[in-house]
Amino acid sequence: MRRVRRLLPLPAQDGLGPDALLAAYACPPGPWVRANMVASLDGAATADGRSGGLSGPADKRVFRVLRALADVVLVGAGTARAEGYAAVQPHETYPEARAAAGRPPTAAIAVVTRRLDLDLSSGLFAGPARTVVLTCAAAGQDRLAAARAVADVAVVGETTVDVPEALSALRARGLDHVLCEGGPSLLRDVAACGRLDELCLTLSPQLRAGGAARVLVGPALEPPPRMVVVSVLEEDGDLFLRFQAAPGASEPGSTGPSVAG
Ligand SMILES: NC(=O)c1ccc[n+]([C@@H]2O[C@H](COP(=O)([O-])OP(=O)(O)OC[C@H]3O[C@@H](n4cnc5c(N)ncnc54)[C@H](OP(=O)(O)O)[C@@H]3O)[C@@H](O)[C@H]2O)c1
Repeated sequence: MRRVRRLLPLPAQDGLGPDALLAAYACPPGPWVRANMVASLDGAATADGRSGGLSGPADKRVFRVLRALADVVLVGAGTARAEGYAAVQPHETYPEARAAAGRPPTAAIAVVTRRLDLDLSSGLFAGPARTVVLTCAAAGQDRLAAARAVADVAVVGETTVDVPEALSALRARGLDHVLCEGGPSLLRDVAACGRLDELCLTLSPQLRAGGAARVLVGPALEPPPRMVVVSVLEEDGDLFLRFQAAPGASEPGSTGPSVAG
């Protein structure tokens, strides 16, 4: 029989330290696509154009834990540009936990872009792990050649990046456990092709209104993929919600990518 489960008040327990948090977010072995996003209580995915205003110290810790467990951080070029993305450095993660799991010291970053309008001299291309660029033929030969000088480039589509092909390209590089950090357009495309296994959503206890995007944007997903909650954690009013794809929910909700060709 179904029952409403009481998640709060919390059962008596000590707070979760880094090791317990790493264990709490463990994933099944093999290919896995997990997204990590933050939203205000009224659904805003940005505050003044970035996600930083929604993310407090606890969210940053969870962000770090999720990166520690990933082979690759998948990010859309819009987010890389807006947030000034840089390659992950060992001091930002848990190198000991990664070594124990047989992973290199940091996760690589994989940037999804159609236009390939990226600053190739930026810190995004200066990490211990070579950055992967997932792009399409429409980027043009000149930009592709320039990107190949600083990154591992995979051309996965003609006019847009084909997300399943992009995930296969990552897998071919031994990058099975994908952590998608958005943004909302890319996450919509990942969900649309039925490849989103897990969503870690931080609800930040603030109200924003305004015209900010939600955590997914683009054409409606039809039918809407359903997810089931697998854990709820809390610190300082931040709720850390972890959802996984409902059994049998891997059929694509929609096939078209949100990025215009
Ligand atoms: N709340 C959160 O957790 C969170 C997380 C991440 C980002 N954000 C915020 O979201 C905003 C950015 O939103 P966004 O929707 O523009 O971000 P996005 O999804 O990161 O970037 C969109 C861009 O990514 C590329 N792209 C995505 N999917 C593609 C596909 N299938 N094929 C080809 N290219 C693809 C395109 O890049 P090109 O233009 O280079 O072709 C597209 O313009 C920022 O304000 C950021 O701060 C919030």
